[in-house]
Amino acid sequence: MSYSVTLIPGDGIGEEIAESMQQVLKAAGAPISWDKQSAGLKAAQELGNALPEATLKSIQNNQVALKGPTTTPIGSGHKSANVLLRQALDLYASVRPVKSVPGVQTRYDNVDLVIIRENTEGLYAAQEAQVTPDTILSFKVVTKKATHRIAQFALDYCKKHKRQRLTVGHKANIMKLGDGFFLDTARELASIDGKVPIDDCIVDALCMKLVTNPNQFDVLLLENLYGDIVSDLCAGLVGGLGLVPGANLGEKIAVFESVHGSAPDIAGKNKANPTALIQSAIMMLYHLNETNIAQQIESALYQVLKKPELRTSDLGGSANTQEFTQHVISAL
Ligand code: NAI
Ligand code: MG
Repeated sequence: MSYSVTLIPGDGIGEEIAESMQQVLKAAGAPISWDKQSAGLKAAQELGNALPEATLKSIQNNQVALKGPTTTPIGSGHKSANVLLRQALDLYASVRPVKSVPGVQTRYDNVDLVIIRENTEGLYAAQEAQVTPDTILSFKVVTKKATHRIAQFALDYCKKHKRQRLTVGHKANIMKLGDGFFLDTARELASIDGKVPIDDCIVDALCMKLVTNPNQFDVLLLENLYGDIVSDLCAGLVGGLGLVPGANLGEKIAVFESVHGSAPDIAGKNKANPTALIQSAIMMLYHLNETNIAQQIESALYQVLKKPELRTSDLGGSANTQEFTQHVISAL
């Protein structure tokens, strides 16, 4: 049996790391047949649509996708393919495990955090209007539906994965209505559920505490924009954006992707670290219950990452993307 999975390589370093990931999964014998689709800058330029209908249809049919990073122009141009995708498919929960990689030395040991990010609304939904020539309103949307389901998702995640504590990051001291509702909802559902200890932290102080001692946290629940920002901060705790994977989950559909973007500064140079996308593929294989193959790839990847000289340059090594890929395949 083989799973049909939508593959969106994306822009920038996307093609290079998607190629690497595919080679690794093929070498491991993962039963995946890729249904390649486009989204992002290239799709917007070539097809006039950053998220083509055919891509959405493919994901709806397959129910599982692996996505590379897509470029979104700054200050003008098309709306983010990511925001469109998460909204169109109602991928309401973003899950980003941030874990120290054995042997990859950073300021912190044994970091093991999970970020759960509301993925469909908040300021990140980018509902904006220029109401006068001098005034722009950016709306922060907070609905009961989205708030309830992400809080319940976070509680269920903690129970399923035997996590000890849920911390809600917020700014409810200032945004008393929107963030206040987000925090109150999580507290209320946690008290009804009664199984997951919950606390909270104002998001700016949360950032300070994370860089001081990340080990004091377990699972973080954040609204969309805070989740975006805190994800990159947490990636920095364990060695950078080249390492951290993620999943965008809806009721039935799952789209796996790295936390990082299209890295235009290193695109086309065979320099990118494919680890985050390979780790996203590992998350996908666990989701498909292909546990053995997921574990084999994970163990091969960690074996290579343990050796400084075999790493890519973002981790201080001298391997390029393809050399790193071949090391992982040899370790398999
Ligand atoms: P970025 O995450 O692309 O890059 C930030 C820094 O990290 C750069 O120095 C880059 O070289 C490095 N980096 C990122 N991934 C790496 C990897 N795999 N290996 C080695 N180094 C890596 O963020 P930036 O530059 O702010 O955004 C670039 C573009 O990516 C923008 O158009 C942005 O909208 C888009 N983006 C897309 C995302 C997605 O598709 N999920 C997520 C984040 C940003
Ligand atoms: Mg981001």
